[in-house]
Amino acid sequence: MQKEIAQLRKRVAELEKEAKSRHATQESLRGTEQKLLDANTRLSNALVQIKKSQQQMIQYERLIALCQMARGISHEMNNALMPILGFSDLLIHNPELLDNRQDAQEIFADINAAALRATDIIRRLREFYRASDDTERYSILDMNKIIENTLQLVEPRWKELEAKGRRIQVRKEFEPLPPVNGSESHLRDALMHLLLNAIDAMPQGGTITFRSRPGGDWIRIEVQDTGAGMTEEVRRRCFEPFFTTKGPSGTGMGLSLVYGTLRRHGGTVDIKSVPGQGTRVAIRLPQAQKVPERVEPTPEVAIPSLRVLIVDDDPWSRSVTQAYLKNRGHTAETTETGARGVEKFRSGAYDLVIVDRAMPDMSGDQVAGVVAEIRPGMPVIMLTGFGEVMLDDGECPAGVSLVIGKPVAEQGLLSGIARVWARRIASPPPGNTGVV
Ligand SMILES: Nc1ncnc2c1ncn2[C@@H]1O[C@H](COP(=O)(O)OP(=O)(O)OP(=O)(O)O)[C@@H](O)[C@H]1O
Ligand SMILES: [Mg+2]
Repeated sequence: MQKEIAQLRKRVAELEKEAKSRHATQESLRGTEQKLLDANTRLSNALVQIKKSQQQMIQYERLIALCQMARGISHEMNNALMPILGFSDLLIHNPELLDNRQDAQEIFADINAAALRATDIIRRLREFYRASDDTERYSILDMNKIIENTLQLVEPRWKELEAKGRRIQVRKEFEPLPPVNGSESHLRDALMHLLLNAIDAMPQGGTITFRSRPGGDWIRIEVQDTGAGMTEEVRRRCFEPFFTTKGPSGTGMGLSLVYGTLRRHGGTVDIKSVPGQGTRVAIRLPQAQKVPERVEPTPEVAIPSLRVLIVDDDPWSRSVTQAYLKNRGHTAETTETGARGVEKFRSGAYDLVIVDRAMPDMSGDQVAGVVAEIRPGMPVIMLTGFGEVMLDDGECPAGVSLVIGKPVAEQGLLSGIARVWARRIASPPPGNTGVV
């Protein structure tokens, strides 16, 4: 009996010990759990902090990128504006220059080319915000011709360098190429960037070789220089937008545009470079499938003399648009506010309204809406500086028949008018007995 009691006591002691140790374990577990919770909170806080500073970094980098871009644009725009300002100034102050028709026409052609260049700079900016390539004008192209074309455009640059004693030789090793389907201006721009980079890489002069050859379903173009080459680090980063080793003279946009253009064309670009030995950029583009042209053709339609109402708060736009129309035998009245435009439209007889979008009192969207209410089916062309953006976004306000981007040359406006007129003939508005 004594023995059993002793055993029982021992057992009770063991159980008590076990309970105590379990309690201690639970306590320690609870402590660990709390520590884990604390650590978790600290980690979450740290994560929030990291995200915050990451955001700040991104914003900061964006800002730098924006500044660099602004600098590059202002440089290019200033260059493009130079002949516009210079030649027009010259003509204003020396009207006798106009006496020689041929000289005058050449000056105007230069002004025109410079304005087109400025338009192109702005169009290139769209690369940075547009998501799709829907509005790129694609056509069937011979890339050998485009290379030739690019060389002609850049020729003055290296002639100028040659004049300074920097000899740059260009070699062409072309093979006949099957056509590609692409945007002529974008592909030319891409080649131009490669050519300019090659020139920049050869401060002592050297040779640039253009090669082209077909292969499989592709065509391949190479631009090779005998210039400074790139380090591995530069080669890895060279496609990054705004990455440049050229200090303030470079924007770092060239190769990123090349990359974007090639990608949109379903092609590739590959760079091989050895410091001190030169660089070879290889481009591949898919051969053209039998794809229909994306450019909407100008319809063959006889356009009568139209009575046009132009509503635009910008005096230059008004007078240029009016001049285009008068030149083609149309009559064009202008107003500088939306409200006046609507008033005039109510009281007059018009066949077409051309309206700006952003105007202080009443927007072009509102004007188009009211015009459509007064005369359903009335052709309305929205001619606006936001044209490209609207076309990119597929935006066309109610009552607007066609969006055209400013600046537009005479032919662009006329083919726009032909398009809306062809549509009007195809489906005349209710109650309209025929074409004016
Ligand atoms: N052919 C080349 N040889 C050597 N380095 C090159 C060559 N092409 C590009 N690079 C390097 O890649 C960088 C980025 O080129 P990218 O064309 O994008 O911009 P950039 O030439 O510096 O500026 P921008 O094109 O505005 O003049 C260049 O600064 C240069 O360091
Ligand atoms: Mg460049």
